Amino acid sequence: MCGSVGYIGDKQATPILMNGLLSLEYRGYDSAGIAVIENNEITVMKDKGRVANLKAIDGIDTLTSQVGIAHTRWATHGKPSKENAHPHVDNHNQFAVVHNGIIENYHELKEFLTQKGYHFISQTDTEVIPNLIDYYYKNGISDEDPFLRAVKSAVDNLKGSYALEVISKLFPDRIIVVRKDSPLVIGKGKKENFVASDIPAILAYTKDFYLLDDYEYAVIKQDEIHFYDNTLLEHSKAIKNIEWDATSAEKNGYEDYMLKEIYEQPNSIRETIGSRLKLGEPCSFDDLDFTKEYLDTIHQIYIVACGTAMHAGLVGKTALERLCHIPVQVDIASEFRYRDPIIDEKTLCIYISQSGETADTLAALKLAKSKGAKTLAISNVIGSSITREADYTIYTHAGPEIAVASTKAYTSQVVLICMLAIHFAEILDCKQESVLENLKSDILDLPTKIEAVLDKAEEVQKFAKKVYTEHDMYFLGRGTDYHVAMEGSLKLKEISYIHSEAYAAGELKHGPIALIENGITVITILTNPDLVEKSISNIQEVITRGAKTLVVTNQKLSNVNFDYVINIPETNELISPILSVIPLQLLSYYISKNKGLDVDKPRNLAKSVTVE
Ligand code: AGP
Repeated sequence: MCGSVGYIGDKQATPILMNGLLSLEYRGYDSAGIAVIENNEITVMKDKGRVANLKAIDGIDTLTSQVGIAHTRWATHGKPSKENAHPHVDNHNQFAVVHNGIIENYHELKEFLTQKGYHFISQTDTEVIPNLIDYYYKNGISDEDPFLRAVKSAVDNLKGSYALEVISKLFPDRIIVVRKDSPLVIGKGKKENFVASDIPAILAYTKDFYLLDDYEYAVIKQDEIHFYDNTLLEHSKAIKNIEWDATSAEKNGYEDYMLKEIYEQPNSIRETIGSRLKLGEPCSFDDLDFTKEYLDTIHQIYIVACGTAMHAGLVGKTALERLCHIPVQVDIASEFRYRDPIIDEKTLCIYISQSGETADTLAALKLAKSKGAKTLAISNVIGSSITREADYTIYTHAGPEIAVASTKAYTSQVVLICMLAIHFAEILDCKQESVLENLKSDILDLPTKIEAVLDKAEEVQKFAKKVYTEHDMYFLGRGTDYHVAMEGSLKLKEISYIHSEAYAAGELKHGPIALIENGITVITILTNPDLVEKSISNIQEVITRGAKTLVVTNQKLSNVNFDYVINIPETNELISPILSVIPLQLLSYYISKNKGLDVDKPRNLAKSVTVE
């Protein structure tokens, strides 16, 4: 939530900060601002709304400064407004700060500072930070590094989560940054350096990154970057080369990132499979060293995640249980962390997160570690917080996902967890080789089959045109089809603002069927041959009550009276969600387009949820 970017170098800072903000808007988009040091003074420009509003501010193009920080906000404390937009400055306009995260004790800090004579303009939690820095700067006792020491003293008082970028007109040659539970990366350039909350913001300028750790400080100058621990002891830090190329975070001719990412799925799945899975060879993961002795001790697996990643976990549960015969529980991270789950060293906890930064998932991971469980992260973002905290990490390698609505990350998560299940089954030697080999062959066929599903886009588009004005829709399925129904329903809600519910088809008669009335749209996923007849009966029940039906199926259906049918290729039930979800992704996309909505940046949402 919220995006921030900073620049110091030999070029004009504003255009670089603006580009960074534009590529970070998916993290928050209710207000934006920049602060630069211009003629020895801090100049702040900010406005409510999108980065476009900020860009339109008179005089912003004429700023010549070569150092600055910028922010695009997803409001937590204080409504979206110009006053509440970041950057925030202290009362004496000496320090400017951008902040991602939440300062939980800001009331206390405000009271303390008010007693010391400070006043506040915004309703944000952030405004206490530049004033605390100012306070400690004035009351500092050391001549050595007074700016860094003042930032550190201020930070020592903060409770909550933060990624901070600070500039000062007294020290125009540096940006000071620090983080706790909120991401921050530093990009190294030639005669210039960058900082950002997220890699895509600065990917156009560098591929060399330092990933800041919790409680770690960095002083970033044009030609040097210094790192300090929590006691301000300087240390060196390894640089990471990030393989993503800048164009992979651009639209490449597509109208929206979401559409681009839907169409990238044949390739993203290829990348996820990589060299890990080959016919006739054991499935291998370079970063895992699980042994039969260890896996034999595991008596349960937990999969913990949020939103779409949790839906991928539900599909993964079936694969792990069927192939490895280990009981699997799937939990929502925000529930798991507060319900004292029964876990111990015989539990393996798997955390799925595209961003690797979701606050609840990260907290749930730390909880499991503290109880002695082994933790495994599945993430798309190299070096993200969750991957650094987990005992093991496997990456989806789906490439940057920019649209708020997750699409290619989901399909990559599903295929990866299925491959993990094969890997465990091979180590445990608990499943017939032919079963695993057939599944491997089906996985390898996925990219071609996804292409065949994408060819159905026009059919989906036509259906979207017929239903986009509706207010309620229902999604049904059984088994993994039900889990896909949940994902389809979430996609529809988040980008088209149509109320929808997903139900296990067999549950319909236990209440929800009361909602079915003339003309209501019911979408059913039908891919499991063993359950087809049962689901067809459920569809008949809604047709009888006047529902309009769309069925996504890989079965050859005859004598059916459904209104619309989207046929998709057949595949193993464990991975059929990868194919059946695509018409649902396209449906929510086209409905949103028909309604004239902003597909990539739906209202009230942000891409990575780094606050509780
Ligand atoms: C998906 O379309 C959503 N935007 C959301 O549910 C998302 O999947 C969830 O917030 C988890 O994010 P993560 O994968 O980055 O942890």
